[in-house]
Amino acid sequence: MIKVAPSILSADFARLAEEIGRIEEAGAEYVHIDVMDGTFVPNITLGSPVVQSLRKCSKAVFDVHLMVEHPETQVIAFAEAGADIITFHIEAVRHAHRLVQQIKSLGCKAGVALNPATPLVMLEELMEDIDMALIMTVNPGFGGQKFIPSMLEKISILRHTVEENGFILDIEVDGGINAETAPLVREAGANVLVAGSAVYGAPDIKAAVQAIRG
Ligand code: DX5
Ligand code: ZN
Repeated sequence: MIKVAPSILSADFARLAEEIGRIEEAGAEYVHIDVMDGTFVPNITLGSPVVQSLRKCSKAVFDVHLMVEHPETQVIAFAEAGADIITFHIEAVRHAHRLVQQIKSLGCKAGVALNPATPLVMLEELMEDIDMALIMTVNPGFGGQKFIPSMLEKISILRHTVEENGFILDIEVDGGINAETAPLVREAGANVLVAGSAVYGAPDIKAAVQAIRG
């Protein structure tokens, strides 16, 4: 079952509650919330107080993507703010296993993200514990970048490993996903598709969500 997770990075930040309403109406399964700290990635976006305010306006699944250094210092605040899924980058932590357990103990689903240059082996010892693996299909930091085609093989190897071992986890992809690239990542084995510019930049948001879901 394919899920679409529009990224509010490409939404109008002055009207976030409304912008979330638009994607919920369009039938999106998740709301993807990109948190950038200006250090792990060049940009700064938003923090847990914004998530807390949005939580009061929406019952949607909040899929929080932490692109921050020291995510272990932030997970309590995001869980309390109402995050449903918290994904951190493996490149940003020393004690990934501990952080996965902490996120789950806070009542959230735990995801681990890999930058394009980070090999799948970094996930190996975490596969039994995580709820989601996020394969970045662009280098994180900006919306509207071009999909990196070599990530397709990474996705299919991961899907194969998951099936072969009976792991229960979602494979999310993020970056450059649109009507053209979505079929490729679905075919490779991704089942949660993030899309920012391809959804919020579309004249018909519902059609865009449907095209990505396939
Ligand atoms: C990139 C973010 C993405 C971004 C995707 O650093 O993690 O979630 O919003 O944007 P598009 O879909 O426009 O590539
Ligand atoms: Zn993201």
